[in-house]
Amino acid sequence: MQYDFDKAPRRCASDSLKWNTYGDDVLPLWIADMDFSSPLPVIRALQDRLEHPVFGYGKEPALLKELVVQRLGREQGWRVEPEAIVFLPGLVTGLNVTTRGVGSPGDAVLVNTPVYPPFLSAPTNQERRLLTAEQVARPSDCGLRYEIDFDALERTVSPETRLFILCNPHNPTGRAFSEPELRHLAEFCLRHDLLICSDEIHCDLLLGESRHRSIAQVAPEVEARTITLLAPSKTFNIPGLGCSLAVIPDASLRRRFRSAAAGIVPDVNLFGFAAAVAAYQECEDWLTGLKAYLTDNRDFLVKFLSRNLPEIGTTVPEATYLAWLDCRQLGPQTDPYRFFLEKAGVALSDGRRFGPGGEGFVRLNFGCTREVLAQALERMRQAVREA
Ligand SMILES: Cc1ncc(COP(=O)(O)O)c(C=O)c1O
Repeated sequence: MQYDFDKAPRRCASDSLKWNTYGDDVLPLWIADMDFSSPLPVIRALQDRLEHPVFGYGKEPALLKELVVQRLGREQGWRVEPEAIVFLPGLVTGLNVTTRGVGSPGDAVLVNTPVYPPFLSAPTNQERRLLTAEQVARPSDCGLRYEIDFDALERTVSPETRLFILCNPHNPTGRAFSEPELRHLAEFCLRHDLLICSDEIHCDLLLGESRHRSIAQVAPEVEARTITLLAPSKTFNIPGLGCSLAVIPDASLRRRFRSAAAGIVPDVNLFGFAAAVAAYQECEDWLTGLKAYLTDNRDFLVKFLSRNLPEIGTTVPEATYLAWLDCRQLGPQTDPYRFFLEKAGVALSDGRRFGPGGEGFVRLNFGCTREVLAQALERMRQAVREA
């Protein structure tokens, strides 16, 4: 079936955080949700559930665990047991629960920057010390490509470090890390006796020919020390429904995780479960269409910038709908987030929030119609030309 991603509903009247934070004349290409309608089977599943007039406590659907197990087997060749899965109301909850469950207050947590801001706040929220190692950006003909800087990791890790938090595919750099990179990282974590929390929320949104592999698959001893966080939320555009999961094959690590969550993390609500079952069971066709549309949006963006705004560098994301724009050539006095908001009427995410390496950058969400993307880029072009 063909899906028309060129059409998207108006979101201003839907309590959308993305569309109602800035003025009506601003195009919002910031927070990571997409403007497209969720797939029809998801909407029907929610309508069906609404038909029943009692909204009491929900029970985890056994079918959902089965669907996750099948999906990991089919997409990645990763065999996990259903009991390895722990449901959560959000991925950020998972980051915080993991940090709380590993080590003790005062221990350190290591992350690569620039990175999705909750990676930077989870350690301090949980009385851990945050250690950051910047990734390296290598300019290439087609754009900026980020790589893990293993020397920086070695220089930064300390004897008190207990946990490494990985983002794969990476927000904001768009990297889907290769098997050799993941092996190298796993070897580093084993050598320093670090547990790994791998946020793979973007793993189903692979663009072009990209592939995803979970770090847990590298070796059994790596799987045993890894908590992998997943969700249907980004993929099927249902982040407001709050259904995520952790895959924790090691029973004792799973017990620690559950005990760190006990009493403070609520269950997933019954609409989140209903949507997740439909998403994983009936929407592959929609997802194939979405990935093709996002790949075209990415290519449109990269081409537009290289032709019309060559002073702005960009990543060429291998996954998801977030581009990371290097605006440093606009001048040291220019704050690119403020500049594009005030002079172009385009709301992007401020690179400084992503930690060291984010200064002079903005993140652009191209999970929107091509029309909105083209309008936003044209506004940005005019603003730079008029500056
Ligand atoms: C890497 C990453 N993790 C987690 C989240 C948010 O997950 P949740 O809304 O389930 O807390 C996002 C949202 O942008 C993300 O990009």
